[in-house]
Amino acid sequence: MNKDINTKYDFNKDAVLLIDKGHHKIYWVGTSSSEAFKSNIYLIKDKREGIIIDCGSRSEFQNTLKRIKQVMPIRYITKIFVNHQDPDVTSAMVDWLELNPDIEIITSPNTNVLIQHYIPDGKEYRYFNTETNPTLTLDSGAVLEFIPSPFMHAPGAVTIYNRHTKTLFSGDIWAAISLEWKLILEDDFDKHKEDMDFFHKGYIAANKANRNFLINFKDREVTNIMPQHGSIITQENVYKAFEYLKDLKCGIDYLRDISDEELSFIVKGKNEIKN
Ligand SMILES: [Fe+2]
Ligand SMILES: [Fe+2]
Repeated sequence: MNKDINTKYDFNKDAVLLIDKGHHKIYWVGTSSSEAFKSNIYLIKDKREGIIIDCGSRSEFQNTLKRIKQVMPIRYITKIFVNHQDPDVTSAMVDWLELNPDIEIITSPNTNVLIQHYIPDGKEYRYFNTETNPTLTLDSGAVLEFIPSPFMHAPGAVTIYNRHTKTLFSGDIWAAISLEWKLILEDDFDKHKEDMDFFHKGYIAANKANRNFLINFKDREVTNIMPQHGSIITQENVYKAFEYLKDLKCGIDYLRDISDEELSFIVKGKNEIKN
């Protein structure tokens, strides 16, 4: 992926072409927010079909529509992938389903039970279960693999590995928060680690979750990582990104061990009613 992308586009309004494989293209289509905590929305255009990866906040919906219209008719959007239930990356599904109730929502069962609460009047939508269908073959022949990333940070979080482009849509993993945002990472990776630290140490459950996720990439080549927040990590930094997660302490790794002695006030049978 060319770093020219960072200077070639107007990030306030353009759809940004990231990967072009003829019948299979990947675009960045948002966000317009100038805050440090901004969410990336991606679009896969496969032949005539459009799949949105993490459709973003309701406040982004109109901007996302405008960007997508630059590259394809909105009626060809048939699927929305949901990494996990957080409103900053998911709540616009309400608006998308209002526009087209036939859109299929792709996510894990654990996430699906929660996102139903976004929908007014409990209306049903078409659901693609990533646990029972771990892959999806698109019209062009490109295969998307759904790789769970439990507790990173949501229990039902699931990522996409695009076999055709070797792209990993990683959700909140490798998410970064910074005011000096660039879509394609240019800075040296050590600086980027600082931008990722806040999010990972605070949100990801534990180092064990990182390692359980990383093992998935023993035999899968990844040439670029597209997270929900922050910058896209290109090939030269992919292994540095793996290394970063491998030993990073996160979440409950920072909690202290509480001994039985400290908890001795919890006495067995204390609440039993005595006659
Ligand atoms: Fe999240
Ligand atoms: Fe997120």
